Amino acid sequence: MTSQFIPVEPFDYVVFGGTGDLAERKLIPALYHRAADGQVLPSSRIIGAARAEMSTEAFREFARQAIVAHVKPDERRSDKIEFFLGMLHYVSVDAASERGWAELKALLGEDDRVRAFYLAVGPTIFAEIAARLGACGLIGADSRLVVEKPIGHDLASAHELNLTIGRYFGENQIFRIDHYLGKETVQNLMALRFANALYEPIWNSAHIDHVQITVAETLGLEARAGYYDRSGAIRDMVQNHILQLLCLVAMEPPASIAADAVRDEKLKVLRALKPIDASNVADMTVRGQYGAGAADGAAVPGYLEELADGKSDTETFVAIKAEVENWRWAGVPFYLRTGKRLAQRVSEIIIQFKPVPHSIFGPEAGRLIANRLVLRLQPDEAVGQMIMIKDPGPGGMRLRQVALDMSFADSFAVRAPDAYERLLLDVIRGNQTLFMRRDEVEAAWRWIDPIISAWRETGLKCRKYTAGTWGPSAAIALVERDGRTWHEEEAGD
Ligand code: BG6
Repeated sequence: MTSQFIPVEPFDYVVFGGTGDLAERKLIPALYHRAADGQVLPSSRIIGAARAEMSTEAFREFARQAIVAHVKPDERRSDKIEFFLGMLHYVSVDAASERGWAELKALLGEDDRVRAFYLAVGPTIFAEIAARLGACGLIGADSRLVVEKPIGHDLASAHELNLTIGRYFGENQIFRIDHYLGKETVQNLMALRFANALYEPIWNSAHIDHVQITVAETLGLEARAGYYDRSGAIRDMVQNHILQLLCLVAMEPPASIAADAVRDEKLKVLRALKPIDASNVADMTVRGQYGAGAADGAAVPGYLEELADGKSDTETFVAIKAEVENWRWAGVPFYLRTGKRLAQRVSEIIIQFKPVPHSIFGPEAGRLIANRLVLRLQPDEAVGQMIMIKDPGPGGMRLRQVALDMSFADSFAVRAPDAYERLLLDVIRGNQTLFMRRDEVEAAWRWIDPIISAWRETGLKCRKYTAGTWGPSAAIALVERDGRTWHEEEAGD
């Protein structure tokens, strides 16, 4: 199977923080791939903008190194790399002063094409950059602003940030990235639900017992203590990625794939989440922090040992029993879980269907296991539908569970694109379906803030877990209390 790549119109991408970590690991490799596939026309420009003094030549060298480090050897072709590097430019710009802005304006020239300003910088300078872009007359009708999480630290700061960027850019020009929405399997969730007649009639509390969403990492703190220790797993992962996944599972069918049709439905889900506060936080949430243990086969230190002062009650793991209070989902728990230094790097959405109402088979048939749909986001993207079949061969009616498995790597001879590839070009196309609208971000904080306050009020501390396990035992109890189990235990991984 081959993919069709339709070139996008020529654009200028200005990447503030163009020499930073995100640009190096994600943005440059993603743009290289799109250019190598012929989707970016040669007159397009990618302009690195950062404080450092650097020539365009040096920036191209930086990009070449980024490609060597982050693109697989068999996907690097020297002619394509040269073609891509030819589109790169660099301007030294200081958000806090006048320095460099006139040069940027001169380089951009006429406002006759799509211009995207990507803020791959800390949120503290979003406002300054937006204001300077406005003051220099660089924002036209075809300009777009791309911002990354964290969009605020709580509802108040998110509101403030949205207000500030909204002074210079219209909401239809603002692209808030949640890179999980660019992942192939996440988009597949929409295809599965709305391009097949099979699931939608049973996608409700009459047929679904519960949903599990797990985003497990083996990574630890890395070099991000400054950011992470102030955020914790709930702000870093749940407020954005996990709630977005929950919305796509739980939303009503939108009338179309148009951005606002989809985002209106996601917003309704966020607004229907049952509040968690001091009265129920201890029953509905578990916080954890990893201690020393193992990750990917090597011994690793505990979270506190990685911090300079060795003190913190920041959670590196969180499990939440969420409920969507509406007709479709009444009584169906959504068990959410994410953590660092867990047993395995795996992100999965599990839809657990209810058991058959009555078994016609005798005890010799074995246990009837209820159907389960497994959407594996990473690694090895796959969709698996677990069903019961008759064990082949003579010897009576014995039943067993098998997976109708669709692995993307096996089924399609295409490279699995990184989420950023899709998202970066959607910005140019002006397609906001896979980006978060302002009210969505704020609605997510409106649900998250009371949980964090309730932790503080009730003094709910982190429980320790050993690095390389599935988190604190309380997280297992959270699900077992309801007579259920996390997927990996059932699957015996
Ligand atoms: C980021 C978080 O948004 O997502 C990181 O800040 C996390 O802490 C990362 O590691 C996970 O992304 P992915 O695509 O590797 O699952």
